[in-house]
Parts: sequence; structure tokens; C-alpha cells
Amino acid sequence: MPASRPYQPLLLRLLHGLTGGCAIAAILTAYWTYTTYDNRWGGLPLPLWRAVEGIHGTFGLWTLLLFPALTIYALRRGQNRLLQTNTADHLQQIGQPIWWYTLHRATNSLMLLALTTALFTGKMMDSTWLPQGELTHAWYYAHLTAWVGLVMALALHLLMSAKIGGRPLLLSIWDWRFRPQDHPRHWWPQILQSHKTWSLDAIALWVQTLTAYKVAEISILLSLAIAWIAPLFK
Ligand code: HEM
Ligand code: HEM
Repeated sequence: MPASRPYQPLLLRLLHGLTGGCAIAAILTAYWTYTTYDNRWGGLPLPLWRAVEGIHGTFGLWTLLLFPALTIYALRRGQNRLLQTNTADHLQQIGQPIWWYTLHRATNSLMLLALTTALFTGKMMDSTWLPQGELTHAWYYAHLTAWVGLVMALALHLLMSAKIGGRPLLLSIWDWRFRPQDHPRHWWPQILQSHKTWSLDAIALWVQTLTAYKVAEISILLSLAIAWIAPLFK
């Protein structure tokens, strides 16, 4: 593999590919669910297919299961691809390369926010509402709005990736070849190594040095946990 080609760590490609694949399947089946049961704002003439709602729910659930791992990766090892503390300064340098890089990082970060919102509002849905013609629930409107937000964020994510790195960057995240040092057999020793350094002191230090990334990580994971628990009390 030529060294000049953009290279994405294998773990990122796995987590991104699985979560992104399920999320895109959820977005497409969501649209079909909308045209089958609702269609108040018009849409493509897709055949009516009532079973698509359950298929959408399944892809949604898979996304919800995988997304915490991508979140933890992105907010730890992938921090340099997300918003940085000097974002405000960089955004003033309009048209400069750093301005484009900052926008690119902003859209990567936006993906985390947009997907969290879609998953959270999805968990608040009730599978009987649409088949019973109940189309005015607040959570249903929130879930529809989250779909629009996610599609717009995804479009920006792709446009900014294309602008920054063109076709090679876009393809690099879906390339399954990897460098020897990135082999999965090295992952477990790395996890064990970091586990050895866990102690009460280390945890206390972790809490003391709360950064924006840690706050974002805790907020996203907490909201996904609430999304699992809250429907049990409906
Ligand atoms: C809903 C689906 C998707 C989600 C939730 C998502 C989310 C993300 C996130 C959070 C990152 C940053 C990772 C990090 O910080 O290490 C990222 C990076 C990236 N994504 Fe996606 N993504 C999605 C779909 C796609 C698609 C369809 C493409 C098309 C090629 C794509 C291309 C990329 C690329 C090239 C990067 C690396 C950017 C860089 O090196 O800065 N993503 N994605
Ligand atoms: C046009 C937009 C959308 C419509 C009409 C829609 C419709 C629905 C319906 C009717 C349900 C209840 C079905 C069930 O629980 O089995 C549901 C649940 C769900 N949706 Fe969506 N959805 C949309 C967008 C999205 C998007 C973009 C995502 C995330 C990528 C998503 C993720 C989920 C999740 C996680 C559930 C919960 C599944 C479960 O608990 O079984 N939805 N959605």
C-alpha cells in the first residue's frame, strides 16, 4: 500500500463500517416506513410494505448496539478528527486550509450528535403508532426531524471528506487492507496493558481531568442508556 495514501486504523474502519452500514440501512428503511404509513409531505412512489417497519426497527437496534463503541473510539483515539478547543480561532480564518479542516472536524462531530438524536427518539417510538394511524405523537415528529438532521449531517460529512481528501480519503474508510502493526492480534495486549494501569488513583485522576471529550462521551453514553431504560416505564 503506498505510504502517501490516507490510512485509517483498522479498528476505526471496522466500527465505522458496521455502525455506518446499519445506520444507512436504518435511514433507507425509515424512509420506506414513512412512505408506507404516512406520506403527508409526499415522497417516492415505493410499494406499500408494512413489514418494513420491523426491519427498520431491527437496523435501528443494531445501530444502537454498535454506536457506543464508535463513540468511545472517536472521542478517545479519534479526537484529532473531531472539534478542537481552538475551533473558534480557526473558524475566523475563512477560506484557509485550516478553516476547511475545522469544518470537516465539525461535520465528523455533528455525525455523533445527529445519530444520538435519531437513536434516542427512535427508542421513544411505539411500534403500534403508525399501523394504527397515530401520526401526531410528539416523539414521532421528533424522530422524523432527527431523520432529516441525520441525512443533512451525512451529506455534509461526505462533502467535507470529499473536499479535504477527495476520492482517496472517502475510499480509505472502506478499504479492508491493513498494515502489520495494525493487526487485530495486537489489540488484546494493548487492552490488557491499559487495564493494568486501572486503579482507584487512575480513576480519580480521570475524573479530575474532565475534558470536553470526556463530557461528550459521558453525555452520549448516558443518553443511549436512558434510551434503553426509559421505554420500560411507559
Ligand atoms: C451514518 C453513517 C456514518 C456515521 C455515524 C459516521 C461517523 C463518523 C465519525 C464519528 C467519524 C470520525 C471518527 C474519528 O473521530 O476517529 C467519521 C470519519 C470518517 N467517515 Fe464517517 N460516518 C458515517 C458514514 C460515512 C460514509 C457513508 C462515508 C463514505 C465514504 C464516510 C466517510 C468517512 C471518512 C473518510 C472518515 C475519516 C475522516 C478523517 O480522516 O478525518 N462516513 N465518520
Ligand atoms: C423517516 C424517518 C423515520 C421513521 C418514519 C421511523 C419510524 C420508526 C418506527 C415506526 C419505529 C418503531 C418501530 C419499532 O420499534 O420496531 C422506529 C423505531 C426506531 N427507529 Fe426509526 N424512523 C425513522 C428514522 C430513524 C433513523 C434515521 C434512525 C437511526 C439511524 C432510527 C432508529 C430507530 C431506532 C433505534 C428505533 C427503536 C427500535 C426498537 O426499539 O425496536 N429511525 N422508527
